Amino acid sequence: MPKPAPVTVVEHPLVLHKLSLMRDKRTPTSEFRQLLREITLLLAYEITRELPITSTLVETPMMDMDAPTLAGKKLAVVSILRAGNGMLDGVLELIPAARVGFVGLYRDEETLQPVQYYFKVPDGLEDRLVIVVDPMLATGNSSVAAIDLLKEAGASDIRFLCLLAAPEGVERMQTAHPDVQIVTAAVDQGLNENGYIMPGLGDAGDRMFGTK
Ligand code: URA
Repeated sequence: MPKPAPVTVVEHPLVLHKLSLMRDKRTPTSEFRQLLREITLLLAYEITRELPITSTLVETPMMDMDAPTLAGKKLAVVSILRAGNGMLDGVLELIPAARVGFVGLYRDEETLQPVQYYFKVPDGLEDRLVIVVDPMLATGNSSVAAIDLLKEAGASDIRFLCLLAAPEGVERMQTAHPDVQIVTAAVDQGLNENGYIMPGLGDAGDRMFGTK
């Protein structure tokens, strides 16, 4: 079996501080959303660290130069609905030209398996770096299912960006998709009996959209 891609935990002081504010149950919805956007910017910086570079001739006011620019097709950001949408703005602020896709999954209460209800992604996935965003990598069921669908649609260079991960979710992802690099702000203790990350921050979707 191939060695799984490493998990990158971004332990930058700004990320750590903002994440602690997000964990606090007293943090209001608007602040939670703003913090998520800010952390996502920092995590996206890390996940794009090794994007391929080419050079382009640029005329500065002083002279011509071969200036480094991003190579290849525009990358795609794919949000796993609905909580993934809270990370989209942060990624798009850093990479405004990225194409955007959405995967909607719900959990069948009998089989407990994720079922697809929406799938809309940019064309040419096979030639793009695909960054999948979902703040909470908990059981890993929906992330694995979303990546299954993206691979069926042609994607082969996929990275997964989340805010918090549970060791169970990381293991599940690394078993199912060892080629997918995971970037996160923290790996927490584990899941409780309801599949919530502990200590975590609660339901990310509810906290960012003010629902219960
Ligand atoms: N999804 C969430 O929003 N929170 C968790 O702790 C686990 C899954």
